[in-house]
Amino acid sequence: MHKIIVANYKMNGSKKLYRSIQNKLNKLELKDTELILCPPFLYVPFFKLSNSNIHLGVQDVSNTIDRKSTGQIKPEMLKEFGVEYSIVGHSERRILGETDELVNQKIKVLLSSGMTPILCVGEQSKDENLSIVIKQVKEAIKGIKSHFKLIIAYEPVWAIGTGELPSVQHVNEVARSLKKILNKLDVEYKILYGGSISNENFQDMAKADIDGFLVGGISLEVDKFIKIVKGIDNE
Ligand code: 13P
Repeated sequence: MHKIIVANYKMNGSKKLYRSIQNKLNKLELKDTELILCPPFLYVPFFKLSNSNIHLGVQDVSNTIDRKSTGQIKPEMLKEFGVEYSIVGHSERRILGETDELVNQKIKVLLSSGMTPILCVGEQSKDENLSIVIKQVKEAIKGIKSHFKLIIAYEPVWAIGTGELPSVQHVNEVARSLKKILNKLDVEYKILYGGSISNENFQDMAKADIDGFLVGGISLEVDKFIKIVKGIDNE
């Protein structure tokens, strides 16, 4: 089955690091796995991808195409540089004030220009109810009527960068609940898991009923990242 692995480089990296990542990833031979690399905006033009299984994404996008938006970047600009995806609603942006309403606006802006959103959702702490995640998804896609494509990354905030992971059963429960909502809509979707994925745990988590991973820290260690990609591709 077609798998997706998204690398969220966050505010990390340098020309030197991205050169080495790019050289190694361009040589990868993949059967049925798609990689989406999301560098900081500044490094986007630096990526020369010659591998048809690898695509470019970014970590955020403007919520409007209004010309009076100092500091924002809109999809039309990103598309000029070959960007096809954008992460939206990452918990590290929600902390800075990205509300469900802004997430919804950003998704609409992306879809109207033919880009695919990678929507991040997840509860803050282990004892929070699944309904938080459901609400985040419902609010994010509110008012979208026509056919659309969406990647959802379930990223429990307590699992990001902590080395702690939810159980496969828990991830399956989340995926099942999301599918119940999404299957009623005209949407082509994929569900990923993100949070502390490493070389030690990815095979276990791959048993969950998901379509791949959104990875943070490990994406900067390219040899370890490649092991995960190959492991998933060979499944
Ligand atoms: P880590 O893989 O470093 O836990 O980060 C996950 C994440 O936030 C990806 O968006």
